[in-house]
Formats: sequence, structure tokens, C-alpha cells
Amino acid sequence: TISISQRLFYSKKNVDPETMLLPYLRKKLRLTGTKYGCGGGGCGACTVMISRYNPITKRIRHHPANACLIPICSLYGAAVTTVEGIGSTHTRIHPVQERIAKCHGTQCGFCTPGMVMSIYTLLRNHPEPTLDQLTDALGGNLCRCTGYRPIIDACKTFCKTSGCCQSKENGVCCLDQGINGLPEFEEGSKVRHEQGTRVFSGERMMWFSPVTLKELLEFKFKYPQAPVVMGNTSVGPEVKFKGVFHPVIISPDRIEELSVVNHAYNGLTLGAGLSLAQVKDILADVVQKLPEEKTQMYHALLKHLGTLAGSQIRNMASLGGHIISRHPDSDLNPILAVGNCTLNLLSKEGKRQIPLNEQFLSKCPNADLKPQEILVSVNIPYSRKWEFVSAFRQAQRQENALAIVNSGMRVFFGEGDGIIRELCISYGGVGPTTICTKNSCQKLIGRCWNEEMLDTACRLVLDEVSLLGSAPGGKVEFKRTLIISFLFKFYLEVSQILKKMDPVHYPSLADKYESALEDLHSKHHCSTLKYQNIGPKQHPEDPIGHPIMHLSGVKHATGEAIYCDDMPLVDQELFLTFVTSSRAHAKIVSIDLSEALSMPGVVDIMTAEHLGDINSFCFFTEAEKFLATDKVFCVGQLVCAVLADSEVQAKRAAKRVKIVYQDLEPLILTIEESIQHNSFFEPERKLEYGNVDEAFKVVDQILEGEIHMGGQEHFYMETQSMLVVPKGEDQEMDVYVSTQFPKYIQDIVASTLKLPANKVMCHVRRVGGAFGGKVLKTGIIAAVTAFAANKHGRAVRCVLERGEDMLITGGRHPYLGKYKVSTRRQGGRIYVVDITSYQCTGQPLVIEMGLLKMDNAYKFPNLRCRGSACRTNLPSNTAFRGFGFPQAALITESCITEVAAKCGLSPEKVRIINMYKEIDQTPYKQEINAKNLIQCWRECMAMSSYSLRKVAVEKFNAENYWKKKGLAMVPLKYPVGLGSRAAGQAAALVHIYLDGSVLVTHGGIEMGQGVHTKMIQVVSRELRMPMSNVHLRGTSTETVPNANISGGSVVADLNGLAVKDACQTLLKRLEPIISKNPKGTWKDWAQTAFDESISLSAVGYFRGYESDMNWEKGEGHPFEYFVYGAACSEVEIDCLTGDHKNIRTDIVMDVGCSINPAIDVGQIEGAFIQGMGLYTIEELNYSPQGILHTRGPDQYKIPAICDMPTELHIVLLPPSQNSNTLYSSKGLGESGVFLGCSVFFAIHDAVSAARQERGLHGPLSLNSPLTPEKIRMACEDKFTKMIPRDEPGSYVPWNVPI
Ligand SMILES: Cc1cc2nc3c(=O)[nH]c(=O)nc-3n(C[C@H](O)[C@H](O)[C@H](O)COP(=O)(O)OP(=O)(O)OC[C@H]3O[C@@H](n4cnc5c(N)ncnc54)[C@H](O)[C@@H]3O)c2cc1C
Ligand code: FES
Ligand code: FES
Repeated sequence: TISISQRLFYSKKNVDPETMLLPYLRKKLRLTGTKYGCGGGGCGACTVMISRYNPITKRIRHHPANACLIPICSLYGAAVTTVEGIGSTHTRIHPVQERIAKCHGTQCGFCTPGMVMSIYTLLRNHPEPTLDQLTDALGGNLCRCTGYRPIIDACKTFCKTSGCCQSKENGVCCLDQGINGLPEFEEGSKVRHEQGTRVFSGERMMWFSPVTLKELLEFKFKYPQAPVVMGNTSVGPEVKFKGVFHPVIISPDRIEELSVVNHAYNGLTLGAGLSLAQVKDILADVVQKLPEEKTQMYHALLKHLGTLAGSQIRNMASLGGHIISRHPDSDLNPILAVGNCTLNLLSKEGKRQIPLNEQFLSKCPNADLKPQEILVSVNIPYSRKWEFVSAFRQAQRQENALAIVNSGMRVFFGEGDGIIRELCISYGGVGPTTICTKNSCQKLIGRCWNEEMLDTACRLVLDEVSLLGSAPGGKVEFKRTLIISFLFKFYLEVSQILKKMDPVHYPSLADKYESALEDLHSKHHCSTLKYQNIGPKQHPEDPIGHPIMHLSGVKHATGEAIYCDDMPLVDQELFLTFVTSSRAHAKIVSIDLSEALSMPGVVDIMTAEHLGDINSFCFFTEAEKFLATDKVFCVGQLVCAVLADSEVQAKRAAKRVKIVYQDLEPLILTIEESIQHNSFFEPERKLEYGNVDEAFKVVDQILEGEIHMGGQEHFYMETQSMLVVPKGEDQEMDVYVSTQFPKYIQDIVASTLKLPANKVMCHVRRVGGAFGGKVLKTGIIAAVTAFAANKHGRAVRCVLERGEDMLITGGRHPYLGKYKVSTRRQGGRIYVVDITSYQCTGQPLVIEMGLLKMDNAYKFPNLRCRGSACRTNLPSNTAFRGFGFPQAALITESCITEVAAKCGLSPEKVRIINMYKEIDQTPYKQEINAKNLIQCWRECMAMSSYSLRKVAVEKFNAENYWKKKGLAMVPLKYPVGLGSRAAGQAAALVHIYLDGSVLVTHGGIEMGQGVHTKMIQVVSRELRMPMSNVHLRGTSTETVPNANISGGSVVADLNGLAVKDACQTLLKRLEPIISKNPKGTWKDWAQTAFDESISLSAVGYFRGYESDMNWEKGEGHPFEYFVYGAACSEVEIDCLTGDHKNIRTDIVMDVGCSINPAIDVGQIEGAFIQGMGLYTIEELNYSPQGILHTRGPDQYKIPAICDMPTELHIVLLPPSQNSNTLYSSKGLGESGVFLGCSVFFAIHDAVSAARQERGLHGPLSLNSPLTPEKIRMACEDKFTKMIPRDEPGSYVPWNVPI
């Protein structure tokens, strides 16, 4: 029996042990508020609260958990609370749901139920949380839209210091009223506990849940190979992603002996069944109570427990499971391994103790558990006087990211003599297991703790941890550097303590070296926002310009907002999954479907042969194939589609399709290889202004350089999803799909089915994030899914798993920019810029936009830019927020930075010198008025106190050797427009019903950017009626035909003008009626209109902005207007580890007249954080064979809550008129991404400072993303010099830079 959101389920009879809670909730119970984002515990979209009675404390423990990793069988006697269980619009919404919506903490809303449940659980345990607890609680929840600031703001209202309702005179908070009137989970009253072992048997698997230790040992004896599943956070991902299968699982349930906490005279004994979160709490308590000299180990463990995974995983994962899994990148094992810990084992044969040492960690048979043994507890001894323990780690992201390298180090000195008596150093992430450097440590015994010892230690350790150039995970030189950088940190830490303990005998550290020891990361955030003032003449009920909450905000927060895969099962529905190519360039020799076809539940497997002449569609110039025919051109290319009764059956069968390949030459993966093989898409584009060749002849200083920029994964939280339903009549087909472009889906499906478009209707209610990624590949997947649905006359659903989505769909194009710039030696004025750019894999449209936007905010008198689109054997990249601008403008800003370094000026000085001022002309001869650009720049300078902080940064850098700060400000001129009038046309349909209510529909897609909310604001203004009177259901090709793609920042602009047009038509018709009865209601007017036979329905239309571009002449008017802005960021870097922290960002934006400043600020900051991810931590890795390694949140790191700037200030410029656009507003969806590069250049500034101090004065060329690896390796020092380097070509690297 389990209780799910206060409902009881008797599940013993029908539950399959292979079923996880998430599909059980979503598919079986139809509780779809809990979302699927990754299936591996990495995103938090599936967060629920688990409540369990703890027999030891006799209290109920509530904790957050990832439903995707919880086997349903493990929930016996537990209560599961889902987002539906805490509040709904039908009953009452919970304060968490209300505040997250009202604080604008939802955009696409897909992450919101998970966020809500994380906060809700926190509040159940801590009704007045601290800010630390808050950020901790949200560390395991990813959001791709908001940038987290509004979510934190919503949460802060629950903190004691927030001034929320707690501080009212009666001291009673809305939280104190019971949980939304719903009864509390009560052990005993609601959940019946059967005593004794429970057994569940599924189709393929048996599950045993013993409740006593004795029974557990019996089972382990009987099934020695069966895993003892505790949190399932190690076993679960192995089963799901690595195809491991366990026919039997033993899952101990409430066995008290596994939860012991014993304080003995020599140390602490912790039960193997304690969760990592419980261990953290216990240790935090112990370090408060015991003297510091005894708690060195516990402090070190606590440090890593603070950043290990997210709160959900820490609450699920057990200490025993963590130790026994022996992951090579385990954070705790390297510490436990140096601490003389012992493992208490038990089997039917009796007790045994084994040391937790290197042999155990490397699974040496004579040092390991026997198969029938279980781990009961772990002894962690107290430290002694003169004993010191430290822990270090560096990951791609500070929190919720596996370490690249981690380490535990312990030293024990003779009483006050500073002579090493014991030394233990171990590392994770540098081999197949945790590595202990035993030999090195042995050789250092008896040495004094001084720099000579350190030097020897570094050399010995580097030698002992010999990491091959081809080691899995790559970053080999970085790892080598970290190994000794951590050692140096340990040396400094211990030296500092020794100095404190005995100032006479131990030398003090130079002040500037102490900086190596301080922590970069703060959990405190503050932010300010400045919206525009509403004009005094505006009607008080007119919502335009007001920060109206997202129309679906509350529904996002209650889980009631319906996304594509939340739609209920259609009768006889089938599931489709793809088999994709595992080779990057090969001939398909044969495809054997026989075994797969014989699998249970399989209905059909379709190949290119089945599709025949409808196996392709042409959107650009070249037709793209749906399923591969005789050759494959990239890994992830669709080869066949498996159709089965269920998702599980389809996936199982897909694994049995056997394809034989024969590799083909050449294999082109990189831009360099494309250049070498002359492999490009046509045409090459060029834009030229002034006379570049002549100008180069007369200048006195020429600089040349290049910058490489990696791609980016969209990582929309909702993966590609669709449901195609044949209507059974007249060949009609309904396509429910998560897309930005329903018309295109309609076209491609109609063409595939050889139907006229009027038979295929495409419906989109909302999309859980898109960012450009839900267009082209979505169309191909929809075509194949529709083909299957048509062939079998049954509804077909296709929802990609996260890994498939990342593998198949492509993302932002990587770029290479080569530049040649000339300046005078003094002054910083740039005369000529010549840039050649290459875009990796994909149609040339992005490169065109890149060229048109390459000047960013600068007037270069002579400019030439050329762009080529490379054709490689990687999946084709596609549109992504900013569409070439974030890449192209980075090249330009890099030129500026290099010019500044050469001229001895700050980059900001060179920026303002070269910026557009007042009225001018772009390189394609479009007029531009840059007044607001300069105003943004000046305002940002002032608001960020740039000059004062620049001085403070320089002072900090002079005083600190191992930490450096950097400050950078970048301007933004983002041209908005689609390059053609037809691409900008839009339509809307507005109906007034006889009760006076209004239904509006338009061609734009709601994908988090709030377009529907803005449209209702427009109707409200135009028809002068309250927003509550207007409804919007979704987008459909049935109501608005031929609608353009939703993208390019202009969705609200264009559709808003169409909606306005429709409203004005209606108003014009109704004006006589209204003026006759001015005091009447809309109901009265509608009835009168009806009685007088006046239509209450109108179509609105907008033709699109004038726009053209002649590439032959290099002239045109491709854009309607420009968005201006500026951002200033300050960072601090750790030169020893490559870590960085964004300390503060100030953003000033010119938004024209904002329609909804809350939504606009949401777009700006969300895009900024996405851009920050692009330029700093988001890194895609491909094998030399072209296989994408980074296929989920575990490997690919988007910004998390820990990446938010400590301070964030956003100001909108006062309203400015912009005659052609909707109420003078500007589209802001994309421009903010580029502002993320202020963080890139701030890091650049900090790295430059480090290099200057180390005497490295040459030009500094840094590529994007500026990851910890690149930062560390650029801060060259004695450690980077000490590491061994491999000759290029002497090994096969794990990954190739793309
Ligand atoms: C999204 C995610 C992020 C993560 N991030 C980090 C991170 O940042 N740092 C880090 O170090 N780790 C990280 N991990 C790994 C995590 O720490 C381990 O998966 C976890 O500690 C395993 O514990 P468990 O209880 O879930 O093990 P389970 O999966 O339940 O079991 C794991 C193994 O341990 C064995 N076992 C368990 N208990 C016993 C026992 N009492 N006796 C004998 N055998 C036993 C089982 O037989 C099984 O083989 C992450 C995992 C996930 C899913
Ligand atoms: S879906 Fe469970 S954590 Fe991502
Ligand atoms: S609102 Fe968080 S992912 Fe979209």
C-alpha cells in the first residue's frame, strides 16, 4: 500500500518491480503534474515529497525525491505527495504555488511543479528557512527559462527575514493553516503496515523487501548476485542507461540496524542505510559538539556533502550505496579512504570488518565484500591532535555536477614537530576507481612540512597517478594540474593551521597567497529591478505596461497546465521510437529486423523502404531525408522507427534491430576538417562596407587572431513530444505536438501522407521551452509518426528521451572566427576589420544573420565579413535563440579586447570609442539611430559604478595571487526582423460570445515567453474590457491558417498587431451600439449586435514589416528596429582550480515601451543566464568517431541556481517611441543571450590579470566556453609547467574539440 497525494493505492498485486514512480504517476494514475525531464535524477522536474515514519526517531521524515529513480516497490508504507496533492485551482492553491506564480517564477512552466515540490518539502521541514537552506533545496532543480532569480524571490518570502505574513501582528502565517486543509500523513491511521517480507514479481524481475536483518541476510545468501537497492541512484541509472539487468532485487525496508548512529570513544559509526542527507545532518551536529581537532574528517565530508548532487539525490542515496558503488568520481570515498575507516560487514556466517582502503575501492577480491555479505555500518574515526584532513573538488559547475577531479588528504604530524608521521592522499576522477597515492605518501614520511616537501610531493604524485592522454572524460592536462593544485591548497591550509597553533615555529604565509584558501561561492543573492513608469494619461484599467503574471502561472505551479505528453492515452494508442545510426559516415550494409519484430508488443518497424518516395521534405534548398536509405551521415541519424503497444516494448525492440555498417571516408567532424576537405554548403556569404583592402595599406598596426566557439544544446525541459491521432473519417489527422511552427508540421505531415493540408490539423496548447529547437527535426519526427499512425489507423505517440533528444536534434552552431583588424598605435580607434567566419554544420541562414549582426554596436569605417557553412558528419545544427548573433558578436568583441590589450587601453574604452553614435548607417546601409545605445552604455557605467569597481578590482588583484577578479562591460545592438515581409505576416481571430466573453486565438506559440498573456493584455486595452473576460485556448492550424514560425523575438510584436487589428474591426462594428448604450455591459452590446445581425467575430491581419536584403549589393533594410542594451559583470576566479563566480551583473535595456515589464525582464534575465551558460560552462563533447558523449544533465551542465550572480540589477530605459511596432514595444526574446558574454570577458580580464602578474604579457586568446579547464590552463604557473604533456598524435583523445 502506498499513499499518493492522500489517496491510497493497493499495489501489491499489480505492480511490476521494473516500474518507477514517475511513469506510474503519469501513465497509470494520470497525475501528470510531475514531469519527465531526464529520467536520471539530474533535472528535478519529477520532484515529489516522500514521507516515511522513522521508527528510531518516532517521527515522520519528509524528503524530496526524484520520482524517475524511485522503484514503485520501494514505497511500501510511504506517502508520496505530488504537486496535485498540495493545492489546485479547484480547491485552493498552496502559498508556494501562489508565490512562485505571482513572483513571475514560471515561464514555460515545465520545471515549476518540481520547483514547487522542492520548496514545499523544505517548508514542511523548516517553516522559516534560511537563504542557505533555500538555495540548497533548489540545487537539484534545473530551469532553462527564468534564470532562477524570480524563483528565489518567491522563496525568499518564506524566510524569516522576508517580512511576509509571519510578521503580521498575530504572528500567524498562511503556512500555519495546515497544508491547504488536507489532512497530514499519519502513520498508522492511513497506512496499514503488514509485518514480514514483501515479494513482488514482475514479468522479468523479482523484488524482495525484507524487514529484519536476519531475513536480509537470508536473501543475500540465497541471491548473492542481487543488488541491495537503497536509494537506487546508482543501480537505477545503470539499468536505465547502461542496459544492466537484475532478475532479483533485494530492498531492505526499515531495518533499524542499517540506520544506527553510534558515538564511541574512538569515532562515529554510521549505518549504511542512512541517506546522505541524514549523514550531513548528523555530521553537522557532531562538529558543533566536539572539539575541532576531533572532527577533521567530518568537516571534510561535510564540505563535499554540501555540493554532492542535489537535495533529492542526497535524500535518496544511502551512505552504503555510495561506498559500495565505488564510482570513480565518488566524492566521499576519497575522503573515507584517507581516514582509516572500517566497514562492518555481516552475512549469515557472521560479522567481519574490512578497511575502506585502496584495495577495497579497486574491488580486489580479498579486500572486498563477499557476494552474500552486506554492509551494516561504517566506522569513521575521530581525528587526533596534529592531524589534518581536507577535501577538494572541481566540477564543470559548482553544484550538482560530478567532480572532474576530487580529493581527500590527511596528514598526521609528530607532536608539535612538523614532521610527517602519516600521510594519505587519494583522488577521484583520475582512473577507473578512487586512486590512493600510497607510494608517494610513504616516501614523504619523516619529511618536514615545507616547500621542498611540496615540490617532491607534486612530482611523486604526478608520477604515481599516471593519467594517459586518452583517458576517459578527456581534460587530461587539466586533471593533472588539478592533482597538484589541490596538493598545494592542502599544503597551504595545513601550513596556515600550523602557524596558528605554533606561531613561533612555523613561518606565516604571505598575505597574497592566503587567497588560495578562501571559498568563492556565496549562497546569498540580492537583486533589484527597475521597470518603466506608466504614463499619467493611461486609463487605470488598461493593463498594457503592467507586470501582469503569466496567464498560466498558477496552472504551471499546480501541475494543471497540460503539455503534449500529459494528454491522456487515446484508445489503442501505439508508441514510436527510433533506431539511430551509431556511425558518423557509413554505408548501411544490412538491417535485420527479425528479432526485433518478434518481441512482445511490437506492431511494426518502418525503414526508408516503407516510406518510399515520401521519405523526404524540402524546407530550405536541399530536401532532407526522414529515414536513412543506403548511407548514414552522422551519429544519431534516424534509421528506422519501431512501433509497439507501449514505450517499454518499443524501446526493448529497438535495441534488437541489427544494422551492419561499412565505414566510409572521409570522416569530417571539425571546422578545420571541413576547410581541409572543402566541404561547405552553398552559398558563401559576404558583406563589405568601405574599402577594406585600400584601408589596410594605410594603417600602422595590424592584429590577427582567431576565436573558436563551441555549440550549445537547447535543453528545453520538455523533450520533443507529439501525439498523432487519425480521426477515422475523411483521412483527417490531428497532430498534437510540441512545436514552434504548426504550419510547417501540417505541411510536412500532409506531404508525407499525400493529403491536402486541410485534412491535417496541428494543435499546440503550450510548449515546455523551445529556444529554436522545435522546428525542423520536430517536423521530421512528426512526419514519420504520422506515417505510422496512418498506416495502422491508430493513434501514435512519440516522446524522445533526453539522451535521444540531445543526440538527434542538433543545437547552436559552433563557430570559428578569424579576424584581421587595424588600429593606430594610440587612441584605440579601429579603422578596418576583416572577419572570416565558419559555422559548423547546418544551413547557411544562420551565417547570413551572423554577418548582418557582426558589427554589434560598432561603426567600423571599413568592414568585410565573410561566412561559410561547413558540411560535416555531425547532426545538423539548427536555430537557437539569437540565431548566429551570440557567435558573430563574440568574434567582434574578441577583436576589441585584443585591440585594447595592444593599445594599453581598457576594452571598455575601445568599445565606446568605436561605438555607433546618434544617426548612422549599418554595413548594409540601413539607417540607425544609436541614441539609446549610448544611453544604455552610460546608464550601465553609472549604475554599476564601473570606474570605482575597476579600481577596486585592480587593488584586489594586486593583493591576491591565487584569486583574481575581472570586470567587463559589453554593449548590445540587436537587430530585430525576419529579413522578409512575408515571414513577418501574422493573423488572429477574435470572437465575442453573447454573454460578453471573448475568445482570442492567433498564430503565435506560447513557449514560455508569455505571448498569450501579452495578447490578452492587447485585447483588454483594445476592447476596453477586463483581462478576466478574455480567454485563449491554444494555437491551431484550424483557427489561424498559414501562421509563420514563432521565433526571432517578434512573436508578440507581429501577432499583437493582428490581434489589435481584429479588435479594432470589432470595435468599429460595435461602436454605434456602445455609444447608444454607454453604460451597458459587453453582454448587452453583444446581444444587441446579434439582434441587429452584426458579426461578433473578426479576423485580424498584419502584413509584416517592410524588409529586404540584397546580398549581391550587400545592401538592404532587413530589420525593423534595434534593441539596445549593455551589461557589466564582475567575476572572481580561482587560478588554482579554474573555478569562477559571477559576483555581480548590471543590465540596462532599451525595450521601447514595455507591454509587460515582468515578462520582458524575465526574457532578458533568462536569456542572460542562458548566454552565460553558453559562454562559460555548457560544453558538448564528441568522440573522435563523432559520437556525442554529452547526452543528459549529468554530462552537460546548464546553469543551475549556484550560477546566479550574487547580485543582479536590471533597469529598463524610460519608454521611447518606436512608431511601427505594437504600442512602441520591442521584442526581447533573444537579445539577452549575448549579454552573457560580459561574464566571458570578465573572466578574460581576470585571467589576463593573473597572467600579467606571472610575467606573461603576450596576447591572450581564449575560446568559448570558458570552462574551468580553460581558465585553469590559461593561468599558467609552476604547476602547469610541472605536468607531463603528451605529444599530439601520440594518443587517441577521448574527445575532439568541435
Ligand atoms: C543525478 C545524480 C547525481 C549524482 N551526483 C553525485 C555527486 O556529485 N558526487 C558523488 O559522489 N556522487 C554523485 N552521485 C552518485 C550517488 O552518490 C550514488 O549513486 C549514491 O550514493 C548511491 O547510493 P544508493 O543508496 O542510491 O545506491 P543504490 O543504487 O541503491 O545501490 C548501489 C550499490 O550499492 C550496493 N549496496 C547498497 N547498500 C548496500 C549494503 N548495505 N550492503 C551491500 N551492498 C549495498 C547495491 O548492491 C548496489 O550495488 C549522483 C547520482 C545521481 C543519480
Ligand atoms: S526526470 Fe527525474 S530528475 Fe529529471
Ligand atoms: S520555466 Fe523553468 S524550464 Fe521553463
